[in-house]
Amino acid sequence: MNIILMGPPGAGKGTQAELIIADFPVPHISTGDMFREAVTNGTELGEEAKKYMDEGRLVPDEVTVGIIKERLAQDDCKKGFLLDGFPRTLVQAKALDEVMAELSKEIEVAINIAVPDEILIERLSSRVSCENCKAVYNLKLNAPEKEGICNKCGGKLVQRSDDQEETVRNRLNVYKEETNPLISYYHKKGNLKEIDGYQDTKNVYSDIKRVLGNL
Ligand code: AP5
Ligand code: MG
Repeated sequence: MNIILMGPPGAGKGTQAELIIADFPVPHISTGDMFREAVTNGTELGEEAKKYMDEGRLVPDEVTVGIIKERLAQDDCKKGFLLDGFPRTLVQAKALDEVMAELSKEIEVAINIAVPDEILIERLSSRVSCENCKAVYNLKLNAPEKEGICNKCGGKLVQRSDDQEETVRNRLNVYKEETNPLISYYHKKGNLKEIDGYQDTKNVYSDIKRVLGNL
């Protein structure tokens, strides 16, 4: 099963990806997580990506396409994969089509999670995530049991540096200009599924599960 999870910043892609991989055994591939890991490890890729991420801009296509090509060639992707946050530009979508053709595979579904802007800003300003296991919480909607501590592993909860309000606004603008056109790209291909992301997490997931169960 080869799945793309799309949606604006804060739509719930990471939250839903965790639920999906518990039911469907495919690797969760998030370009944002890959870049953040590179930043934490202080690699050359991390240094390059950080400049863009801190401003809410997209990392250049050639860098992003390069890391995705390498990742999709790994053995665990043979059984399928769940892409979260890639593709994000038309150039990336076309590059993905080429990679899929080379691997004789197809994208089966592109799921777009839609949420109104004002809700996205509210969600991101109250998001915290675990430094250790990356579990995501929301201080207003899904707070951890102990303040600042991850329920799952006891790790420290931190705010993402790109969740400052001004950066969030930039990310939303970039999304509208560069990523929104992908909705019609996948619609024309016939594999777009729209999901209402402005409902309880469990209800969003049951809508997604229905789509995946029908593939
Ligand atoms: P990335 O990490 O992909 O960030 P994003 O797309 O901006 O999305 P987020 O991770 O912020 O949100 P999400 O949809 O995963 O929501 P979440 O589940 O956490 O990218 C970061 C940066 O990396 C980019 O800006 C760019 O610089 C670079 N980058 C990444 N990919 C790239 C690419 N392909 N090309 C170029 N550059 C790239 O949920 C958010 C909050 O809401 C949480 O607190 C959660 O608990 C809460 N929540 C979730 N669902 C619900 C619900 N149903 N109801 C209530 N609250 C909810
Ligand atoms: Mg995410």
